[in-house]
Amino acid sequence: MSTPTIDRERSGERIRRDVQTLAGPEYTLSSEAIRRYAYTDVYRATLDYFTRAWQELGFTVTEDPIGNLVARNRPPGEPVFGVGSHCDSNRNGGKWDGTLGVVSALEVCRCNAELGLDLPLQAISFLEEEGSGFGQMVLGSRIVAGRVSEQELRERIRAIDDGRPFWEHAEEAGYNPERWQQCAHILDDLTGWIELHIEQARVLQDTGRRLGVVNAIAGYVHGDITITGRADHAGATPMDMRRDSAVVAGEAIIELERLARAARSGTVGTVGEIEVSPGLINAIPGRTRISLDVRGPDDDAVHQVVRDVDQFAQRAAAERQMTATYGQRQTVPATPLDDRLVAALEAAAAETGEQFTTMISGAAHDTMCVAERVPSAMLFVPCRDGLSHTPEEDADPADAALGVQVMLGAIHSMARRSAKS
Ligand code: GLV
Ligand code: MN
Ligand code: MN
Repeated sequence: MSTPTIDRERSGERIRRDVQTLAGPEYTLSSEAIRRYAYTDVYRATLDYFTRAWQELGFTVTEDPIGNLVARNRPPGEPVFGVGSHCDSNRNGGKWDGTLGVVSALEVCRCNAELGLDLPLQAISFLEEEGSGFGQMVLGSRIVAGRVSEQELRERIRAIDDGRPFWEHAEEAGYNPERWQQCAHILDDLTGWIELHIEQARVLQDTGRRLGVVNAIAGYVHGDITITGRADHAGATPMDMRRDSAVVAGEAIIELERLARAARSGTVGTVGEIEVSPGLINAIPGRTRISLDVRGPDDDAVHQVVRDVDQFAQRAAAERQMTATYGQRQTVPATPLDDRLVAALEAAAAETGEQFTTMISGAAHDTMCVAERVPSAMLFVPCRDGLSHTPEEDADPADAALGVQVMLGAIHSMARRSAKS
């Protein structure tokens, strides 16, 4: 059977409608940005939206013990091809990051039904990809991959809003975190996995391509450096008698920039959170915490930058009679994606006549945690000026519809190949 061809105009229109609807006031906590994260009402409303849409297609929809959403058109135990992403957002997010991947997965399922293909499919919307609720990126898929411990879920991972443990929030939302190890089963039947996502950079826009086939994802380390000095009066304390923790934090931020540049190989480093205590205009900061986000395709280079900035902060603090300590929140290694699936996406992209680029992802994705167990790949579509993690984020539903065509083509060809073997 030849490659199925979808009606891209119709798909683009449905994708536009879904994304637009999910940007409405019912689905975000903020009027200035898309802000939704695990166990909030707006997140629940988003899961309900997708549940209804998949049920209309005759899919069975379930949620695993912590709230990853699973929709499938075959009974448990039968092989299925996986599609999906996440529908939580950055706290200052846009409409497209993650949500477009779930909407496109839904569109793959709609087209599968409309074209009478009857491909066995399972969609997943992972919980807490952004870390907006609990400060831990790709949390839902890391739980599925067994990359967190029970102790972390019970104690260490806490809500940004109220400091209470993930465990308590999950229970309150009606989930069963004590069964978290069973979340692993949501990948049991997958023969492959494709996640569509906006690129979040501007390679595609700058090269005039509408599609990026992703063959690897950069690894990352997330951690915090806390500098402890002494809180004193800002007016009465002479400059040579201060232990100002914010000064050491400032030096460490500059050093991180230098180290990441020097590491080359695509390593990047960011301080996205600065917490100054007591945080008053007329008090010397006795304690400052800075977050570290260090990423890149070369894990050794990434970890070396983290070690070096940690040592730098300790030295800089000691020189000023202070202390600095580093704590790692989490790390995920750089992840190569599956050659055969990448080739299938490239072939399906070529069939559309559109030029595409094969590229690596600098951003993290749930696919990093799926890829350990399931042959996985990703497909990128452009976002305007590469903007993401901002309400300015914008993308074109027509590009996503093209992506749906390519996903369906690749899934169809993989199914044909496995039927022959
Ligand atoms: C995911 O949102 C990331 O920051 O890479
Ligand atoms: Mn995302
Ligand atoms: Mn994101």
